[in-house]
Amino acid sequence: MTVLVLCVNGERRETAVDPSTPLIFVLRNEFGLTGAKLGCSLEQCGACAVLADGERVLSCNRPAAEFAESEIITAEALERDRIGERVQSAFVAETAAQCGYCTPGLVVAATALLKANPSPEEDEIRSALNDHLCRCGSHASVLAAVRHAAAGTADG
Ligand code: FES
Ligand code: FES
Repeated sequence: MTVLVLCVNGERRETAVDPSTPLIFVLRNEFGLTGAKLGCSLEQCGACAVLADGERVLSCNRPAAEFAESEIITAEALERDRIGERVQSAFVAETAAQCGYCTPGLVVAATALLKANPSPEEDEIRSALNDHLCRCGSHASVLAAVRHAAAGTADG
């Protein structure tokens, strides 16, 4: 066991874990942040995405210790972020979820996209979300939500 200190959602959080523990288990089991979902555990579905220093990262395989110097933002804190809040509102407006299991990862990915590129082209939106699986088939409404959020972001 090692004492691990992470910056999560603007707070310094500390826990004693095996340093090889994947980030998602620290977030969910040690800190009670269950927004990131465990899907494939193989970095192939996107359900576990969080932001690290503003970029989308998958949390299911990489050791939490790798993120000791990063600012981690989980889906729970996106409403406090101007772009994250727009993305969340757009997902609600477009009813872009069915079971919702993939939704936190998609909202994280869309937020990362719009932070880097406030006016993405259609192919850029599709590329940013390409690694996110949704077995409920919400793809069309998810794309509509991201276009909706991008329109609001581009307007300032
Ligand atoms: S659970 Fe991490 S990509 Fe699927
Ligand atoms: S809404 Fe159910 S997996 Fe996407």
